[in-house]
Amino acid sequence: MPASTFERAISDARSEGFAVASFSGGEPTLYKPLPQLLRHAKAYGMQTTVTSNGMLLTQARLDDLAGVTDTLAISLDGIRESHNRMRGSDRAFDAMTECLPAVRASKIPFGFIFTLTQYNLDEAAWAADFAFQQGAALFQIHPLEQVGRASHLLVGSRPDDLESACAYLEVDRIRRQYEGKMLIQFDLIHATILRENPDRFFDERDAMTRPLAELVSPLVIEPDGRVMPFGYGFSARYALGSLTEATLPQLATAWRVTGYRELQDLCLATFQDAAKHRDLPILNWWEMLGEHAAAVH
Ligand SMILES: C[S@@+](CC[C@H](N)C(=O)[O-])C[C@H]1O[C@@H](n2cnc3c(N)ncnc32)[C@H](O)[C@@H]1O
Repeated sequence: MPASTFERAISDARSEGFAVASFSGGEPTLYKPLPQLLRHAKAYGMQTTVTSNGMLLTQARLDDLAGVTDTLAISLDGIRESHNRMRGSDRAFDAMTECLPAVRASKIPFGFIFTLTQYNLDEAAWAADFAFQQGAALFQIHPLEQVGRASHLLVGSRPDDLESACAYLEVDRIRRQYEGKMLIQFDLIHATILRENPDRFFDERDAMTRPLAELVSPLVIEPDGRVMPFGYGFSARYALGSLTEATLPQLATAWRVTGYRELQDLCLATFQDAAKHRDLPILNWWEMLGEHAAAVH
């Protein structure tokens, strides 16, 4: 995809009410036009985030990111051995940690993302402490999902209901430990919070007059230019279309008429399922949404 297509999509997204542009991958620091796209997003008043494996954050790359990156999120999958195993590289942990002094010196606000599996909750406290010692502003715990490489290489490693419930308690403890010192973000939700806030999960209001960001957020642009709701690898049935065929506003106009109703139905059905009573009430809303979407024929 030419960088100009992304530039156009970023400014169009801003006009449609989106306030944050996040760059992931693949490895976004390998993408040469990244600084150009970050500058473009900042010029349009957006907040920017970059998610990286942290292995290539040389002084030159950090100089390009400084001033246009609001949050640099570095992946940290546990102690050196676990991190390297998860990433299939003996060098992953050391190469990342070697870059951290330069990251700190760059003054780019940074954090770490810890991928929670069925087997690594016992390393979360260590990872939080590592993040804090390194000067991180954010520690995010994101559950493994069966997408991408994980769908064939890490089968059976996504945290089950019991592990998720244990993680909920452990994250609560970590959150209290770092209160006022480091932001802790946990990407699982308690069913009670979900039941009490239905308007955060589905929406039956009119589509025609509201900005796209109020109808579907986040939006993901996939490597082939397809614009997807909610997450990488989401069911193609719900795609807004492709940037290789039309601009984002053109896709949005058509989708308001044809696609939005179906997405509303999906969100409502997922909400009803998520709100059911269950003994272990910690849910992965995004994963449930993806599973419901994949099950629709
Ligand atoms: C897909 S990576 C891309 C950016 C970069 N290459 C990296 O390693 O951070 C973005 C984030 O998603 C996480 N991730 C990758 N596959 C995942 C999966 N199947 N489930 C949950 N998180 C995943 C990574 O650990 C990383 O924090």
